[in-house]
Amino acid sequence: MTMLLSIENVNKAFGRGTIHENRVLRDFNLVLNTGDFVSVIGSNGTGKTTLMNCIAGSYGVDTGEIRLGDMVLNKQPARRRAKYIGRVFQNPSTGTASDLTIAENMAIAWRRGERSGLGRSVDAGLRAMFKERLEFLGLGLEDRLDVPVRYLSGGQRQALSLLMATLRRPKLLLLDEHTASLDPNTSLQVMELTDRLVREYRQTTLMITHNMQNAIQYGNRLIMLHEGHVVADVSGAEKEGLTVPLLVEMFRRQANGDLPLSDKVVLTA
Ligand SMILES: Nc1ncnc2c1ncn2[C@@H]1O[C@H](COP(=O)(O)OP(=O)(O)O)[C@@H](O)[C@H]1O
Ligand SMILES: [Mg+2]
Repeated sequence: MTMLLSIENVNKAFGRGTIHENRVLRDFNLVLNTGDFVSVIGSNGTGKTTLMNCIAGSYGVDTGEIRLGDMVLNKQPARRRAKYIGRVFQNPSTGTASDLTIAENMAIAWRRGERSGLGRSVDAGLRAMFKERLEFLGLGLEDRLDVPVRYLSGGQRQALSLLMATLRRPKLLLLDEHTASLDPNTSLQVMELTDRLVREYRQTTLMITHNMQNAIQYGNRLIMLHEGHVVADVSGAEKEGLTVPLLVEMFRRQANGDLPLSDKVVLTA
């Protein structure tokens, strides 16, 4: 197993030095090996998105180090990191540009982090490659390359966002509740597609989800965040044996009983 991502003693607070100081990540440590598919759970406001923002470079860290392979990530600007890190957000319109066509959106994703000056132009070679990648989705989008993305459904846009985020085979894929705004059926479809894509690319992935069933079912590892730390890290046979009630019980134990059990976001399957 080779280590891919290492987060060491990272601290991240908002409103530092004020009475509103909010220490979100506290001496935070996490190591991901190449090929890990990790689900991340934890109650609302616990710092899951902040963790991803610190990895992707949307936020700087106060102290600590984030490394990707032998590169010190937290010294790089976000746009440089975008070459190595793909990201999909909860809102389907965040990952794609509504007025541009599927092909144009993919061209932008293809050139992310480059200074080619070609923007969204698409030659025959790229078109063929995009078509082939779209076929993988099984949604018929390969025949709609020149359709503006605003005509796609939320599920289709999320599927396209996933494809775009992985087009350049990033070292790391970050998914932030990327199925949360979809209806249950579509959410299931996008989750299955995610799993297929991650397997095909052997894509190292960190996936935040509020859906405990998904967290249990997908990936090789599950971590729980609470009060700025990883309080549970489950993989292998232990993860295979997880059920939603077991997970709830584990939360209670790991968080010393002070887990907000009324938090529906954590507890609904
Ligand atoms: N840009 C920001 N400025 C101030 N506070 C923030 C900012 N981003 C996040 N926070 C705060 O950090 C905490 C963790 O937020 P977040 O990482 O979004 O939680 P989660 O994704 O686990 O629901 C919350 O208290 C939130 O209000
Ligand atoms: Mg969040």
